[in-house]
Amino acid sequence: MNRIFSGVQPTGNLHLGNYLGAIRNWVRLQRDFECIFCIVDMHAITVWQDPKELRAHTREVAAGMLAAGVDPQANIVFNQSQVPAHAELAWIFNCVARLGWLNRMTQFKEKAGKHRENASVGLYAYPNLMAADILAYKATHVPVGEDQKQHLELTRDVAQKFNNDFGVDFFPLVEPLIFGAATRVMSLRDGTKKMSKSDESDYSRINMTDDADTIALKVRKARTDPEPLPDTVEDLDKRPEASNLVGIYAALRDLDKVEALRQVAGRNFADFKKDLTDVAVSVLGPINDEMQRLLEDPGHVDAVLAEGARRARAIAEPIMRDVYDIVGFLQATER
Ligand code: AMP
Ligand code: TRP
Repeated sequence: MNRIFSGVQPTGNLHLGNYLGAIRNWVRLQRDFECIFCIVDMHAITVWQDPKELRAHTREVAAGMLAAGVDPQANIVFNQSQVPAHAELAWIFNCVARLGWLNRMTQFKEKAGKHRENASVGLYAYPNLMAADILAYKATHVPVGEDQKQHLELTRDVAQKFNNDFGVDFFPLVEPLIFGAATRVMSLRDGTKKMSKSDESDYSRINMTDDADTIALKVRKARTDPEPLPDTVEDLDKRPEASNLVGIYAALRDLDKVEALRQVAGRNFADFKKDLTDVAVSVLGPINDEMQRLLEDPGHVDAVLAEGARRARAIAEPIMRDVYDIVGFLQATER
């Protein structure tokens, strides 16, 4: 049986990269698969979060997912800390994964930067918690943006080592699902840097909460080069900012880059940016309206997450009982 799991951190507002790289794909998968979508608040605190903001961002991200079309009846939508299995299995994986594996993780290196000694232990062990998120449900497929590929390889390594060490065929080897025309959306200020919630400049990203004027302004200010748009993808990909903007345009229009270039080749940026703004506003506008409506009723959002957590626990608890048994933890019959 295929089961899909994916997660998003409540560290700030959702942005266009989260939408095109992940959430829009979730909406497409939910028709055909059993899906579990998680707001990973325990991952968020691997770097400092103000408690009030963490709570607000958790609701905002939940509202953003629902507004984008994730259906909380057909799927399970919840925040991670409401299901103890994530932390329980993460501890076991802390004892399965090797230091050498974690030392290779590029996201840790990027996030810890020069102050490695000062990074939290949680930031270092982050990939083990992510493996636990997925495997606490024995999920088989994980739709994410390209930046998460290495973490999913680690998840496979952890599953395999657990299975080998204990001589069982228990955890599945997960497959990443990375698809769409924008699996890696770049910053609007620098085409070589990933669009991210943590970038200091708000002009680097389009937030799902930005109104039409803000989107127009950010697209207008987006960095470009002086040449008109080329007609082959090969030429386009030599120009990081041009490639990023055309990629975003293509994804928003649901085209591949070749088809998108057929529409825009030869045009200058001033012209192209108007079309890009129009399509961004037409896709994000309705999502934004619905998100605002949902945020006026935080009680509803909280109830969705509580119900999701209840259903998530019902799947994870029997799996954790088996894990504890495999590891050799002595258990009372009723846990
Ligand atoms: P995060 O905001 O880091 O929790 O990411 C949540 C999801 O969005 C993950 O599946 C990421 O791979 C995806 N994602 C984040 N940033 C980008 C980006 N710039 N381009 C494409 N996907 C992204
Ligand atoms: N690490 C992911 C990110 O930063 C978020 C995440 C946590 C996740 N647990 C997950 C994604 C499990 C997919 C599956 O984007």
